[in-house]
Amino acid sequence: MAKQYNWLLISLATLLLLVNIEAEEPEEKLAIPTQFPYQVFIDVALKSDNSKWVPKCSGTIISKSAIVTTASCLDTEFDLALIYFGAVNISNAFEIGQTRMEVERKYFEVHEEYNPVTLSNNIAIIKLPFELEFNEYVQAVSLPSKEDLGHYVGQEMIIAGWHQIATKQKLSVWAVLKFVAKVVVVDLIVEAVKWVGNKVIELLADEGSPITMHKDNVNVAVGMYSNSKAKSKLSHFVNFIKFLSWIKKRVSDVRIQ
Ligand SMILES: *[C@@H]1O[C@H](CO)[C@@H](O)[C@H](O)[C@H]1NC(C)=O
Repeated sequence: MAKQYNWLLISLATLLLLVNIEAEEPEEKLAIPTQFPYQVFIDVALKSDNSKWVPKCSGTIISKSAIVTTASCLDTEFDLALIYFGAVNISNAFEIGQTRMEVERKYFEVHEEYNPVTLSNNIAIIKLPFELEFNEYVQAVSLPSKEDLGHYVGQEMIIAGWHQIATKQKLSVWAVLKFVAKVVVVDLIVEAVKWVGNKVIELLADEGSPITMHKDNVNVAVGMYSNSKAKSKLSHFVNFIKFLSWIKKRVSDVRIQ
C-alpha cells in the first residue's frame, strides 16, 4: 500500500514538472529527414582501438569538402572521426539518405589561437578526404555576411541536436535529431548569445550544433553552440561572422549569403 502511495506521489511530481517545463520552454520537435541537410554528427575514436566510437559533437557542412565544428570537439587524444551525413536517427545505419565517412586527424584543422581554458577561438574545420555528393539529404549552409545580419529580424533561428555529448552518456537515449526555434525580435547575435545559454538548449544541442536561419530558401548558419565549461555565457556561442576570413582562407568554395 505504502509503495503504491509513493509511486503515486512521484508520478504527480513528474507530471507537475512536465507541465511546468512545457509552460516555460519553447517546444522541442523531432526533425524529419531532409530538414537539416547541413548538420552532421561526429563520433571519435582512437586509431589503436577503432571499434570504440565515442559520440562527441555536431558539425556543419560548409562546402563539398569541409565541415566546421568546435575546436573543443577535436582537441582530444582521439585521432579518428566518424561523420554521419544526412542522418536523423544516428542509431540506424540503414536510414535512407544517411551516409558515413571516417576521417583521420591529419584532416582536422583547429584554430591556431584556440584557448582550451577560456575557449576563445573555439572553431575547427574538418577537410573531407572525399567530396560530398549533395542531394536533398546532404547540403551545405551559407554563412552570413556582416551587412546581412539585420535582414534576419522577424525570422526564426533554429538549433538542432542529438544531445549525445560524451560526458552525459546517461542522457544519450536521444538518437534522433530534435530542434527548437525562436523568432528574432531585435538583434540576431545578441539574442542568439542569450538563447544558447538557455537550459533547453543545453539539454538538446550538441557541441557544434549550428544556429541557423532559413530565408529565401537558403539555410544560413550564424554560429554554433559551444558546450563550454567556461563560466562566461558568451562562450556558449561561436559567432561565425567573427571567423569569416579565417574560414574563407581555408575553404575556397564556402558560400557567403
Ligand atoms: C532508431 O534506429 C534504431 C535502429 O534501427 C531503432 O531501433 C529505433 O527505433 C529508431 N528510433 C526512432 C525514434 O526511430
